[in-house]
Amino acid sequence: MGKIIAISNQKGGVGKTTTSVNLSSALAIYGKKVLLVDLDPQGSVATSLGIEKSNLEYNVYDIFCNNKEAKDIIIKSDVANIDVLPATMDLAGVEFKLLDNPFRNYILEKALNKVKGQYDYVIIDTPPSLGLLTLNALYAANSVIIPVQCHFLAIEGLTQLLNTIRIVQKNKRENRKSLKIEGVLFTMLDRRVNTGWVVMNEVKEYFKEGIFETIIQSNAAAAMAPCYGLPVTKYQPQSASSKNYKLLAKEVMKKNE
Ligand SMILES: Nc1ncnc2c1ncn2[C@@H]1O[C@H](COP(=O)(O)OP(=O)(O)O)[C@@H](O)[C@H]1O
Ligand SMILES: [Mg+2]
Repeated sequence: MGKIIAISNQKGGVGKTTTSVNLSSALAIYGKKVLLVDLDPQGSVATSLGIEKSNLEYNVYDIFCNNKEAKDIIIKSDVANIDVLPATMDLAGVEFKLLDNPFRNYILEKALNKVKGQYDYVIIDTPPSLGLLTLNALYAANSVIIPVQCHFLAIEGLTQLLNTIRIVQKNKRENRKSLKIEGVLFTMLDRRVNTGWVVMNEVKEYFKEGIFETIIQSNAAAAMAPCYGLPVTKYQPQSASSKNYKLLAKEVMKKNE
């Protein structure tokens, strides 16, 4: 099927990487073959899956700047059904290097087109900015999941993100392509604190539809799992966040299959 989903929000710390890794691992548990693409120079996807970055021969930077093909960079992870296109700090320099390249927004799309057929889902983790890397993710993707942290100020910047999505959608329509909003995903909800519910109601007013029923609760297991190089579904399969991400995977599968 090769459905490409970008996990995007230019605000940092909202759960993009946690969602990318754990949605992927939950989809993998249900037998889906997943390619997890890291577009954040922090390279947290590799770390979260216990992949040692200093051992990598190539990384996603080589797609952008060295004409490498995705197939030469993709590595298997220790989690069944998950392959990774890893990122490292190299990626931080990509924006500057590609300033003069008129096709710079479409480099990832072109690279993924050649490999997406081998996967059920391609999940793209994006950096906390609306720059070149996020644009590459949005142009490559069929849809976008927007994680919104259930804290005050979470909504700031959503207008900017939506404006960017609208511009990409318009450009894609001209080429008979599309970018759907798969849904807004509420993350890190602390059920005991009022703030989360207030924020969720505000966002619901704003989006009306396109909000995932699944809510990711604030849960220590989700924050601890990367320290062990494991998705939370493996680190603590019975934890709230493991269960939440499995429900999210089911919701995504239901929408797409
Ligand atoms: N459901 C959760 N419960 C508790 N902590 C979480 C949860 N999701 C993410 N975190 C923690 O919050 C921080 C930010 O999450 P992260 O996924 O790295 O956000 P982003 O990729 O948007 O910057 C990390 O330290 C992460 O471990
Ligand atoms: Mg991140």
